[in-house]
Amino acid sequence: MVGSFVKDLIVSTRKFPGQGETVLGCGFQMATGGKGANQAIQAARLGAGVTMVGKVGDDGFGKELIDACLADGIDCSHVMTDRQNPSSVGNVQLQVDENGTTQNRIIVVPGANMGITLEEVAFLEREIARYDMVLLQLEIPLEVNRRVMEYARRSGVPVMLNTAPADEKSRELIPGLTYVASNESEAGELTGAPIRFRNGAADPDSVRTAVERFLDMGVENVLITLGRAGAAFGNRREFFLLPALDNVVSVDPTGAGDSFIGAFSTFVSAGADHRTAVRMANYVGSLTVSTLGAQTSLPSLEQINRLIRERGETELLFLPEKLTRCG
Ligand code: RIB
Repeated sequence: MVGSFVKDLIVSTRKFPGQGETVLGCGFQMATGGKGANQAIQAARLGAGVTMVGKVGDDGFGKELIDACLADGIDCSHVMTDRQNPSSVGNVQLQVDENGTTQNRIIVVPGANMGITLEEVAFLEREIARYDMVLLQLEIPLEVNRRVMEYARRSGVPVMLNTAPADEKSRELIPGLTYVASNESEAGELTGAPIRFRNGAADPDSVRTAVERFLDMGVENVLITLGRAGAAFGNRREFFLLPALDNVVSVDPTGAGDSFIGAFSTFVSAGADHRTAVRMANYVGSLTVSTLGAQTSLPSLEQINRLIRERGETELLFLPEKLTRCG
């Protein structure tokens, strides 16, 4: 994993403020997050061996962000400290409605995440071949992602790029990728094919068009997360759209995309076929939205297998012996 660390400052409110408006909130919490660290921790909680490459500031948040990864057994020996820039901070706003359903908005100030240099990831040219998969997101410099992708390609290591937060410039990274993972709005923005929804369900034709556009851009496999509408997967041989689990109350969607991607990558690296990996990742995502916070809500293998048993889909049970190594 080459990616971001973010300290999330989470504010809950009954109503997002409008332009120029102030509202009184109803809760505040701080939590460790960042798309890179969240995905790394999800993979580790499923039993994967994970190495995190990234950067934090020389401050208290930086130490907490590293400690959170260490607590999940992640190798942080390649996490660097930035003496110029502070640790990244995320302003997470949660709007909680009367039914307890929550929507979020996030502003991330990149800080040290954008301080990673090409020289600092050069060691991966020799080392990248040790890994089963490399996960990247867009909270670190584009040129660092591009360079890591080149190293991975030369060593034949699959790369998953999560196109979040949305950035049009990331289009140039797509040709040659093994996997691209986007949510519905990123997919629409990057492909020019908006995804339509009706009564909470995604219109399969519009999703298929977005997948095809991505494939035409030169990526091998496309994963599109669709929030409550589930997720879709496609390549030149297969396409499917699977609904999310029913009867799940969304307490906080923060980190749900990360848990889905971290889980999908782990399951595929452990040998699961794409459809099974999406079905299992749906369980992981649904458990993530059921609890407040990003990393605090990322489920363990035990929690996932318990829910799978409760729902009677025992063919999906993920057993540790299936896992070899991935990161
Ligand atoms: O995907 C959720 C994450 O996005 C949060 O933890 C926040 O830090 C931002 O990076």
